[in-house]
Amino acid sequence: MQAIVLAAGKGTRMRSEIPKVLQDMLGRPMLAHVLEVLVSIGVRDPIVVIGSGADQVRSFLKDYAKRLSIRPRPVLQSQQKGTGHAVMMAIKHLPLTKDAVLIWPGDMPLLKTETLRQFTKDHSEANADVSVLSAIQANPVGYGRILRSGGKFFAIREELDASDRERRIQEVNTGVYLFRRASLVRALKKIRPANKKSEYYLTDTIEILSQDNAHLEAFPFAVGKEAQGINSRADLSIGIGIMNHREVQRHQEQGVTFVCPEQTVVEPGVKIGKDTIIYPWSYIETGVTIGEKCKIGPFAKLRKGSHIDDESVIGSFVEVARSKVGKKVMAKHLAYLGDAMIGDETNIGAGTIFANFDGKRKHQSRLGKKVMVGSNTVFVSPVNIGDHARTGAGAVVTAGTKVQKKQIVAGVPAKPLKPKQGKKS
Ligand code: UD1
Ligand code: MG
Repeated sequence: MQAIVLAAGKGTRMRSEIPKVLQDMLGRPMLAHVLEVLVSIGVRDPIVVIGSGADQVRSFLKDYAKRLSIRPRPVLQSQQKGTGHAVMMAIKHLPLTKDAVLIWPGDMPLLKTETLRQFTKDHSEANADVSVLSAIQANPVGYGRILRSGGKFFAIREELDASDRERRIQEVNTGVYLFRRASLVRALKKIRPANKKSEYYLTDTIEILSQDNAHLEAFPFAVGKEAQGINSRADLSIGIGIMNHREVQRHQEQGVTFVCPEQTVVEPGVKIGKDTIIYPWSYIETGVTIGEKCKIGPFAKLRKGSHIDDESVIGSFVEVARSKVGKKVMAKHLAYLGDAMIGDETNIGAGTIFANFDGKRKHQSRLGKKVMVGSNTVFVSPVNIGDHARTGAGAVVTAGTKVQKKQIVAGVPAKPLKPKQGKKS
């Protein structure tokens, strides 16, 4: 199968300086989600039609290709004259094979792998000239409608050009098609910009092929939510919500409790152990791992590169970035743990900050096991704190300090305290 992703549109309705397909959805651009589903159905070298913000999209593709070992091939559509025109620009770059051509709009990032597999399978079993992936939408406003006569699919009508009766149709076009290449090329030659937007509509190829008695199919396999197109900021929020809901559900199935799922954000690619409880208003970024029986939040932010081991508590207003937190660590309130390695059973007092950035570079610090960090301690990284050591409230442990095992330091700058006479340290 060969694929063309349409990603040249400006996304006027988004009102943004950023090209629509690069709008962020849970830590990755919209286009990355589309490319990932393509990879999951075995397409690693799609043509990506770019135009609006072409340089930005091209550099995203280059960077992304490196990370995921895929080879998207950008093709420029210098003027955005419609979805049909975009495919005209792309088709000449596809090698001449008998493979079906999959077309996918870059603003349709929620379709699932299973849906695409079913669609591909039924298309080839039907041996159709073109199949459209359709969806039944409770509110079909804005989508192209699927027109059938006696059940037989014969055209797609865009909202602006539809009659009142056609607008009541709830079966809509997702914008995903599988074409026999020869049929596509033949139909593209005949489309004209004779519509309210004066664009070359890809959707017009359907009626053209129908008049040629071609075999057309529309498979309504996309269930409502996955067929959400993203055109405006409102759509973007809906789309992000759907993605987040899927991630939360995936973790729930693995035994994780979410006290308030709608008020918690989990980006894709997070691992959470069972019996962990996530309290509301927490944000967990891609790549974070959390062990079993942890408590996270409320109001916790776990950023990329953070690993929290079993039975630890990352409490309210605690931010963790690029840090490794051991088992049974307590960081219950108001702290920033940045670039830190924290040993098992260490207790982080309220107000603890790792001052990890010197204006030029980030530095790492290491805390041993069972360290007791006094409230409002500042660790000016890099520091190295031995097992069972303690810091007094308000201590500022300056850069380069090494605190010995069991040592107590306090003050600004923090200095070792002498153990009290007669008391065992
Ligand atoms: C399109 C479909 C509509 C379908 C809907 C699904 C057409 C005419 N309409 O409408 O039937 O229900 O998608 O979401 O196809 N693009 C280009 N070059 C262009 C124009 C668009 O690459 O010249 C790209 C856009 O970046 C976008 C995609 O094609 O990713 C779809 O374009 P968009 O303007 O969003 O079309 P819709 O109005 O959503
Ligand atoms: Mg769209």
